[in-house]
Amino acid sequence: MSILGQPIDRIDGRQKVTGTARYAAEFFVPGVVHAVLVESTIGAGQIIGFELAGAQKMPGVLAIITPQNAIRLPMQKGSPQTVHAPLLQDMTVVYNGQHVAVVVADTLDRATAAAAKVRVQYQAGEPVTRMEAVLDQAYVPKHFRNGTRPPDSRRGDPDTAFFTGAVRLEATYVTPIENHNPMEPHATIARWDGPAGQERLTVWHTTQGISATQTSLAALFGIDPSRVRVICPFVGGGFGCKGATWPPAVLAAMAAKMVGRPVKLVITRAQMFTSNGYRPQTVQKLRFAAGSDGRLVSMRHDGFTQMSMPVLGEYSEPVGLPTEMLYDCDNVAVTHRLVATNASLPTYMRAPGEAPGDFALESAMDELAAALGIDPVEFRLRNYAESDPHEGKPFASKALRACYAMGAEAFGWSRRTPAPRSMRDGAYLVGLGMATSTYPTNRSPADARVRVTDRGATLVAVGSQDIGTGTYTVMAQTAASVLGVPVGWVRVQLGDSTLPKAPVSGGSQTVASVGPAVLAAAQSVRTKLFDMARADRWPGAPDAALRLQNGVVIGPDGRLPIAELMARRNLDSVEATEHAAAAPADSQYSKHAFGAQFAEVRVDPELGEVRVVRYVGAFDCGHVLNAKTGRSQLIGGIVYGIGMALMEATHVDEETGRVVNSNISEYLMPVNADVPAIAAIIVPSDDTRSNPLGAKGIGELPMVGVAAAVANAVWHATGVRVRRLPIRVEDLIAV
Ligand code: MOS
Repeated sequence: MSILGQPIDRIDGRQKVTGTARYAAEFFVPGVVHAVLVESTIGAGQIIGFELAGAQKMPGVLAIITPQNAIRLPMQKGSPQTVHAPLLQDMTVVYNGQHVAVVVADTLDRATAAAAKVRVQYQAGEPVTRMEAVLDQAYVPKHFRNGTRPPDSRRGDPDTAFFTGAVRLEATYVTPIENHNPMEPHATIARWDGPAGQERLTVWHTTQGISATQTSLAALFGIDPSRVRVICPFVGGGFGCKGATWPPAVLAAMAAKMVGRPVKLVITRAQMFTSNGYRPQTVQKLRFAAGSDGRLVSMRHDGFTQMSMPVLGEYSEPVGLPTEMLYDCDNVAVTHRLVATNASLPTYMRAPGEAPGDFALESAMDELAAALGIDPVEFRLRNYAESDPHEGKPFASKALRACYAMGAEAFGWSRRTPAPRSMRDGAYLVGLGMATSTYPTNRSPADARVRVTDRGATLVAVGSQDIGTGTYTVMAQTAASVLGVPVGWVRVQLGDSTLPKAPVSGGSQTVASVGPAVLAAAQSVRTKLFDMARADRWPGAPDAALRLQNGVVIGPDGRLPIAELMARRNLDSVEATEHAAAAPADSQYSKHAFGAQFAEVRVDPELGEVRVVRYVGAFDCGHVLNAKTGRSQLIGGIVYGIGMALMEATHVDEETGRVVNSNISEYLMPVNADVPAIAAIIVPSDDTRSNPLGAKGIGELPMVGVAAAVANAVWHATGVRVRRLPIRVEDLIAV
């Protein structure tokens, strides 16, 4: 049986549990000094001046960097991954918590103490803190999806068709600001080497994209990317907030340049709420109609995303994308608009667009199903899209029917009685809800190198990064499966920008992008070894007649150790580097993963407390390369979705624009006691039209639809339709 797909333990597990896996801030760099950020205490206005005498007198202080003495960066904009966030280049304050100074000292304690003594004089303005107050000033995004498509789409005539529907729904759904908060905060050690004009920058930096960081830092400091090295062997979680290169990394490099020493900058948990993006608030206006036959006749989805002031850049939460493609409907309109507030720049957060967008879409679908008196699963089947109605292409693969069927079966959906408040468990109200999940199957070009020694020891080298999902492990499995060696013979090297180039680990694309490159490089090595075996002993033997096993070529009539093949040629290893990218012909398909989410909740009718007591998710995520790490991601995504449904929200003070719950004690997230036993079903599926491994990506899919499934279950339990996340006790008390 192939090692691909097997539920093996992660190969870096031992390093992680013993603490030998080294994260960015843990590297020992001789002579390192420490930087601490100072943040604004106003939400909008101008800095008039700084009072630094007190801070400068503090022991160990090496530099205090402010907009008045900061290096002028030759370039602030350009690279798509570059954040145009405040980098101490001017005196304008556009959000509360904006970095306004950096204090560098010989120890972290001394830098922290001195930072507390920095005084900033402001001329404060009135911050805009509530998106809903300025919704009428919404504007059209300029770079929606990095300019790859327009922000709006339309097919048919949804506004006319709406009035032909037997059942019509007009509703507004609201999702809050959420912050990512991976266990490892943003951290960078920056060091400059070499004489002026030939400087080289090395950063030990936690990131989802070492190549993107390399490009961004090079652009910002005006040097060639070959002179920037990014090292990141382990990432303690990212979820999107480590996708771009945020100010702390840039400021660490700037500080290192200014003090002439390596500088370490680790941001605090509170600074995680103002320094590296967040999922913005959304307001989504939906107008759907269906005929009495249960067929959708009109869908209109107008999405508003809360943004920072435009000077910081642009980010749109693409909430309408699932609405375009998930159901077969002739009349569909989707729009995306931005609403500027005095907040930091938002960014991608796990299933950006799909997670909040699908909450609105799948809540509305539930509302329509109820109004029509049709079972929610049946309603979705009646509107099942056999091909992608937005792109007008066949799906590369789609096993969503099987997701509904297997999920419903495992969940026991058939025991649901349709009327709200019709199911009870003693004094508690019980509700069963479901929703559809979808996420695109992304892929980007990648390079990989594979080397096999004469003993069969195998090295896989690729400039990707393992963000905690299992990249080390599945790349070892991929190479092992081609080269016929145990996984234990494979060493995987990731997280160094000197390795062959790979894309950012975002958009759930790592396996689909990097996997094919590793596969191709391993196949090249195997071909080289087979060619040697053919030359030495089995001339003309087809590949099918040869196989590799534990460092031996097994041919039609015997065995040839690769050590002999290499010795005869004076080699101690055989190596290949390959480039892998989607073929142009692949674009004839629409590529998506799918899933069906089922939640059972128990609501205390007096206290309004909601508990998720049972959960089943069934997913068409293509071929899963490791059933253990894959299942772990599915469960993690569902937990993330339960947090979105019931707990997560970043609260902003309306007067000052300051985040008021900027720590994990007040930013609520599910703990073990909030999470029931979760059944994550991997539905048989293989998508070789998207990539040769047949994988569709697992990172984001499982959280899409969870919030809607829970909200739909809450409606079924209580009869209360909550259209604003998170669902709170206040929404349900004494129902
Ligand atoms: Mo993900 S939000 O694409 O890191």
